[in-house]
Amino acid sequence: MITRRQALAGAAAVAILPGRGFANPAEVLEARTANYRVVPGDYPETAIWGFNGSVPGPEIRVAQGATVRRTLRNSLTQATAVHWHGLRIENAMDGVPGLTQDAVPAGAGFTYEFTPPDAGTYWYHSHNRSTEQVARGMYGLLIVQEAAPPDVDRDIAVVIDDWRLTQEAQIVEEFGGVHDISHAGRLGNFIGARLSPETTTVKQNERMRLRLVNTATDRIMRIGLRGMAGHIVALDGMPLARPESADRVLLGPAQRADFIVDVTEEPGAAAAITIHERDEVYTLAAFGIDGLASKAVRAAPAKLAPNPVDLLKGVSGARNVPLRMEGGAMGGLREGVYKDQTLSFQDLAERGQMWTFNGIAGLPPAPMTTADKGEILRIPMRNDTAFPHAMHLHGHHFQEVLGDGTLGPLRDTLLVDRDETREIAFRADNPGDWLLHCHMLSHQAAGMTTWIRVRA
Ligand code: C2O
Ligand code: CU
Repeated sequence: MITRRQALAGAAAVAILPGRGFANPAEVLEARTANYRVVPGDYPETAIWGFNGSVPGPEIRVAQGATVRRTLRNSLTQATAVHWHGLRIENAMDGVPGLTQDAVPAGAGFTYEFTPPDAGTYWYHSHNRSTEQVARGMYGLLIVQEAAPPDVDRDIAVVIDDWRLTQEAQIVEEFGGVHDISHAGRLGNFIGARLSPETTTVKQNERMRLRLVNTATDRIMRIGLRGMAGHIVALDGMPLARPESADRVLLGPAQRADFIVDVTEEPGAAAAITIHERDEVYTLAAFGIDGLASKAVRAAPAKLAPNPVDLLKGVSGARNVPLRMEGGAMGGLREGVYKDQTLSFQDLAERGQMWTFNGIAGLPPAPMTTADKGEILRIPMRNDTAFPHAMHLHGHHFQEVLGDGTLGPLRDTLLVDRDETREIAFRADNPGDWLLHCHMLSHQAAGMTTWIRVRA
């Protein structure tokens, strides 16, 4: 029998373990260097840059409707800023240097305060020199809890990152290499999954919510689930109208998928989260099966409560703003405009620019379009390059306009494959200046970024 005293001692022990953000998250987010265990086993710790010295940084968990307030303290030697990915918050808190705030210099600070309107799985990350800063570890999760959470036995966040490491497990300090930025980005040689809370054993027929998050700078991940059966209940934080039965999901950089799964494997066996790379399958996390939670397999999970976003009823009357992606290796781009100058591909490349949106490389001085508040925009995104791109819109979730005219689920990031045109539509109802960029951060830095203005 557990006495009250033992139970309290147990709770306190959990609260001081680093890396588990369930107890009071820190009020200060300090961007700093640290040594942190990235690769398990006999490898040395890795010199990282992280919020409060860990990767991921502290997990921020708040109730829907609660205010988040965090002071960024910059103890790095580079300027930085924090972007709250996927949150429909006010523009001044969006954390984009050069658009919504100045980068926070070394030694300085900035206080972010906002109230996330939507429940779900979100994340925060550096939005300054992000090809380098995110690769070094500057990100963490932000989980907004539903007022009525689904009935699960466990709720586990699974952060999956891709690292380019030396044999001594140190970060390869080349960011923005010409080959990387002109091809599929800075891909790593070590893919790690970090579970919060750490979990190594589960029971048969246990029901788990798995919040999968791809925090890699550039890698697209094919994630699979073994020894469990379930449904995707949310994408990019937003509940699906109908949970979708699945045992795998394709996640581009920055994308999230929430699963509700039941463990099907028998005691003594193992379940796993896997990643599929070319023809190989690797285990990211394994769960031993330790007994039986219940005899009965439960009924399929219900959908999550919807967030306060108006789903579009259609796109008739929407304004059409096409976006064409060009450039990169084997893309055949001949010239582009950079800082108001028309340059040959060669000259662009000399300035680290490889890609264009509508003929422009880098953040243009004028927005791609200015929308009236409440106006519906549709953006057909044509990929005329030889690589897929993970297109991300700030400050709004969009819906894809599907071939048959119906509208897809709410998302904040959409993979657009080579030679594809994928169209998104959304109500521009959040005033301010919002980025629209490729979330392959190497591509973003090398040209794939633009912005839209929404009038107040
Ligand atoms: Cu996740 Cu512009 O960012
Ligand atoms: Cu891209």
